[in-house]
Amino acid sequence: MNYGLIMTEQALGDDARLPQRRNLVTEIPGPASRELLARRERAVARGVSHVLPVFVTDAGGGVIVDADGNSLIDFGSGIAVVSVGNAAPRVTARVTEQVARFTHTCFMVTPYEGYVEVCEELGRRTPGPHEKRSALFNSGAEAVENAVKIARHATRRQAIVVFDHAYHGRTNLTMALTAKNMPYKDKFGPFAGEIYRMPMAYPLRWPGGREACAANALDTVKSLIHTQVGEDNVAAVLIEPIQGEGGFVVPPDGFLPGLAEFCREHGIVFIADEIQTGFCRTGDWFACEHEGVVPDLVTTAKGIAGGLPLAGVTGRAEIMDSVHAGGLGGTYGGNPVACAAALGAIETMAAEDLAGRARRIGEIMFPRLYGLAEKYPVIADVRGRGAMLAIELTRPGTLDPDPATTTAVVRACHQAGLVALTCGTFGNVIRFLPPLVIGEDLLDEGLSILEDAFAAV
Ligand SMILES: Cc1ncc(COP(=O)(O)O)c(C=O)c1O
Repeated sequence: MNYGLIMTEQALGDDARLPQRRNLVTEIPGPASRELLARRERAVARGVSHVLPVFVTDAGGGVIVDADGNSLIDFGSGIAVVSVGNAAPRVTARVTEQVARFTHTCFMVTPYEGYVEVCEELGRRTPGPHEKRSALFNSGAEAVENAVKIARHATRRQAIVVFDHAYHGRTNLTMALTAKNMPYKDKFGPFAGEIYRMPMAYPLRWPGGREACAANALDTVKSLIHTQVGEDNVAAVLIEPIQGEGGFVVPPDGFLPGLAEFCREHGIVFIADEIQTGFCRTGDWFACEHEGVVPDLVTTAKGIAGGLPLAGVTGRAEIMDSVHAGGLGGTYGGNPVACAAALGAIETMAAEDLAGRARRIGEIMFPRLYGLAEKYPVIADVRGRGAMLAIELTRPGTLDPDPATTTAVVRACHQAGLVALTCGTFGNVIRFLPPLVIGEDLLDEGLSILEDAFAAV
């Protein structure tokens, strides 16, 4: 499909509410945000941090407006959530209609159609033509916890295999599944048991380099599972098809299909955590599709509902239905307003081919990021897929992480009105997650701000 130059007004259709341009009228943060920040410090727990202390009053398309009237370019999407844009017209319309009718009955008490419709969509859109069932929850962590519960119940096994650099959430079980200590796990233990961590196929950092990674990573993992856990003890292998918080690590081709096949051979449930990669972010509805991988269970959240809290576990009917009635659920899981939002978000993704948009964003961003890497040897790697892209910063000529330059570049972006995020086990990765509806003019401008930031630091 030929998209041509998508200017933002077109990208948003007739419903554009906010001028789609960067406009700074104060320093960042301005006086109104600073006042709110002082209030925040007196009322909100310190453990809940923020990236950029501007207080938001409005957001839509590719911009975020703050309390001082500054308009910033959004390259974060609230951490890969508002892929359809903030307050997307179809989401707003469905939510408004639903909220005026009823807001909660609890699906486990008296069900409603919206929940069923979301599960039907999940069954249709997730990889594989097999019969599926879904269950809905409130957050990504809750979805991952439930996927683990389901896999253990279905297999009557206990061991869960996870990977270095993995991020699966902040609840007790998902902290144990997550790799990075600070800030996610430090002094929050004791953690859940029967979790086994394997090396991740991380091309930049695999001993011996990229080719060795492609050649050896799968065999290494299989051998470690065999010798240290025993295939017959493993309930599930849980993996993000492209790691999110851990640094946007893309495994080499063949790693995920090989892992899925290994699981099939040994009766292990293969769980793809698509919470960050899902819903068109990587240029397909789900990142597993890129290599034709069909997981047994898929966890979803973030992009599913245009910003409202909703998450899901979707998978093979026989695995999902192995759990007894009442074994899954929660008071708010699949709340009717969140389900209405999800139906609006999914409708938007299909109608506006947001998977195609994600691919187009990748086509625009990759050459600019490669150009930066050529100019600045501090950039050791450019990676990602579709609209989930990152650069990793190291001391030139080494693999030593450079979190100081990373932070300095991102701060300079913030000062210039670009919301950019970091990630990575070593805090040395800058990640880009623009809303998929962002206009190409804003995308270009955001990339220019990034280039200026590198020139300045
Ligand atoms: C891959 C992955 N899994 C799980 C989670 C946890 O989701 P939540 O923050 O909604 O609990 C995240 C959040 O960043 C994630 O990226």
